[in-house]
Amino acid sequence: MDRTRVGIIGCGNISGAYLQGGQSYRNLEIAACADVLPERAAAKAAEFGVPRSCSVEELLADPSIEIVVNLTVPKAHAEVSLQAVAAGKHVHAEKPLATCRADGARLMAAAAEKGLRVGCAPDTFMGGGHQTCRKLIDDGAIGEPVGATAFMLCHGHETWHPSPEFYYEVGGGPMMDMGPYYLTALVNMLGPIRRITGSTRITFPERLITSQPKAGKVVTVETPTHIAGVMDFASGAVGTILTTFDVWHSTLPRIEVYGTEGSLLVPDPNGFGGPVMIRTKSDAEWREAPLTHGFTGNRRGVAVADMAAAIRSGRSHRACGELAYHVLDVMEGFIDASANGAHYEVASTCSRPAMLPVGLPDDAVDD
Ligand SMILES: NC(=O)c1ccc[n+]([C@@H]2O[C@H](COP(=O)([O-])OP(=O)(O)OC[C@H]3O[C@@H](n4cnc5c(N)ncnc54)[C@H](O)[C@@H]3O)[C@@H](O)[C@H]2O)c1
Repeated sequence: MDRTRVGIIGCGNISGAYLQGGQSYRNLEIAACADVLPERAAAKAAEFGVPRSCSVEELLADPSIEIVVNLTVPKAHAEVSLQAVAAGKHVHAEKPLATCRADGARLMAAAAEKGLRVGCAPDTFMGGGHQTCRKLIDDGAIGEPVGATAFMLCHGHETWHPSPEFYYEVGGGPMMDMGPYYLTALVNMLGPIRRITGSTRITFPERLITSQPKAGKVVTVETPTHIAGVMDFASGAVGTILTTFDVWHSTLPRIEVYGTEGSLLVPDPNGFGGPVMIRTKSDAEWREAPLTHGFTGNRRGVAVADMAAAIRSGRSHRACGELAYHVLDVMEGFIDASANGAHYEVASTCSRPAMLPVGLPDDAVDD
């Protein structure tokens, strides 16, 4: 098979999942990796058997590399993705697409001008758990969707992440960090969002890092860390979302979708598997729905394989820039709505990504 050569920029904490996952798809070849810190790129190349570690400039100058996977920190996403596009590469970035709409729009315009593809994490909505939920909803298992709730509550990342500063910078925070998983999952199931409002706060203006190697460093919090939002979907469903780094403990579910005929308990959108639980109006108890789709392990990188297949066949790729830009628009919109004391009519929209076919092997997507 004609493998698409991929270059990874950003060899930090999450890169291992991509290096491992990416190499497991039959249409991908991880050809090189780069980082602003060359020793990180060299270490990952050695660990995962990547043939070349090099500078960002050298990677972008390699004409055999078709897709750049941008795994840098959020504030570098737009700049690195724009560099990749300027070098004539398709680009798939970690989430969020950019830290503000203006940068996201610049990237989308630059890629469109050159006929290049933009993709963005998360790709967990392509996992077996979320594809099963999508199929159940599309098949009418819970009737017409009425509403949804999404909850991501934790106390931040300064106790475990080796470089947690970015979580508290503008472009970080629980919404920009985790919102993409939840909102992408909701848009995959329910379609685009037309209007939102929100309220936000910063509970702890300083964070003390206790993880190594930066233990003892104090980080000033620049962005809201507790964000509550309400969403009107174009379909008419009404959603509620809470993302927070300010809460110690909670018993709330991750995502639930409510329909006229029943309710769906959706698995963690930061994972690929189940369980999917359903309870219709005639069910006495919740029951587990069998998963209809594969990709249930840690399949991070499936969107890159999907983009590579889509480039070859000419179809749309699923974790596309339009979807990620819509999610970015909504996330920034919650913060704006709180500051402005008003609803935000969401300017962007997107199509729901195509459902994956049933019965795919675990190392390939559809053509
Ligand atoms: N850590 C996780 O569990 C996790 C999970 C899912 C997604 N993500 C996302 O992945 C991205 C990276 O997160 P991480 O945890 O790996 O961060 P990290 O800080 O561990 O790694 C980022 C790497 O990017 C490099 N880098 C930064 N700017 C660069 C530039 N301009 N050019 C080249 N290299 C540059 C850094 O040197 C670093 O090695 C973030 O967007 C994050 O939201 C992280």
